[in-house]
This record gives sequence, structure tokens and C-alpha cells, in this order.
Amino acid sequence: MVLHLDCTVREGSRTRQLAQAYLKDKQQVTHLDLIDLDIKPLTREMLDKRTYLLEHGMLQDPMFDMARQFASADEIVISAPFWDGSFPSVLKVYIENIYVIGIVSDYTPEGAPYGLCKADKLTYITTAGGKYIPDFSYDYIRTVFENNFGIKESRLIKAEMLDIEGFDCEAILSETISRMQN
Ligand SMILES: Cc1cc2nc3c(=O)[nH]c(=O)nc-3n(C[C@H](O)[C@H](O)[C@H](O)COP(=O)(O)O)c2cc1C
Repeated sequence: MVLHLDCTVREGSRTRQLAQAYLKDKQQVTHLDLIDLDIKPLTREMLDKRTYLLEHGMLQDPMFDMARQFASADEIVISAPFWDGSFPSVLKVYIENIYVIGIVSDYTPEGAPYGLCKADKLTYITTAGGKYIPDFSYDYIRTVFENNFGIKESRLIKAEMLDIEGFDCEAILSETISRMQN
């Protein structure tokens, strides 16, 4: 199963357009529209509940459904526009919710994290109004997904300069789509 984490928000989103082109020939795609999921940042009550469940080995609790879905996916595809030098905050909220020790990640006795996820590939799709800077978006996601979740390989698909006068947005998007298919 390909798990598509859609973090796009705008009607007619260009990032979503690229993701649709990337996913069009894939079998068994599960789309999660993160904004519509109504997920919440971890509160004290949620953390207390999570700690209790983990201390009692209750990994099958519905609280961990999303984490188990994430851990069992064969490929993860993220579509996230470049916002404020990063990605929409709902993606961080999603990560807080699925980052469950014992399901997606664990630690060696020396304290080093290692992954428990099945996926061997992460594809991160983004578009930017100006120049795309990966430091606090793709680079952060790749680091966590590879080092902590165990995903072996990551790929960035980006289209940039889409809001800058003089740049042909449609041409940049078409070029990105042809490049991603090679
Ligand atoms: C809330 C918000 C924040 C943005 N921040 C940046 C930014 O930091 N750098 C940039 O180059 N473009 C920024 N943009 C422009 C978007 O990256 C650009 O329009 C992108 O293509 C939007 O993707 P979408 O069409 O999928 O919504 C921002 C746009 C919005 C709505």
C-alpha cells in the first residue's frame, strides 16, 4: 500500500497536482488529507494516555491506528507546499501522532533510534513561490524518516519560483512532471 500524506490546503494546489501525476499509475494508494483528519497536537491528557498504553503494552489500542497504518505502508508519499521556510504545521502534528515507540521506532540499549517501518521509500513532493530551501522541510523529514523510522531511500520532487514574475508556472510544473517520470 502507498500511503499518501496530503498536506496541501489551497483549492487548485499545484503541489497536489504534482502528487496526482506521481501517483496516477500506482496501485493501492491510501490518501490521507491531513487537514480533514482533524488531528490535534499532543496535549497533556493525550500524552498521559499514550504513556499508560505503552507501559501496559497496549499497542493495539485505537489511539495507535494511524501509527500502525504508517508502519505497514510500502511507500510514503508526502505532498506539502513550502510554507514559511518549512511545511504546513499539520504535517508536524501528524508526525507527533504517529511517532509511537514500539510501532514506528525504537531505541538500542545505547540510546540510538532505529526504525520499525516497512516502507523502503519516501517521496516528498513540494512547490515553492520562490527558491526552495530544503533545510527545515525535506531535510528534516528525510532525517527523521530514515534515521528514526527506518525508511531506506528518499527522493525530493520540487517545482520552485512559481510565484515570481517572469517565471512560467505552467511550464515549470510540466517540466517537473516529465522529470519525475524518468
Ligand atoms: C502560508 C504560506 C506561506 C508561504 N511561505 C513561502 C515561503 O516561505 N517561501 C516561498 O518561496 N514561498 C512561500 N509561499 C508560496 C508557496 O510556496 C507557493 O505558492 C506554493 O506553490 C503553494 O503551493 P500550493 O499551490 O500547493 O498551495 C507561501 C504560501 C503560503 C500560502
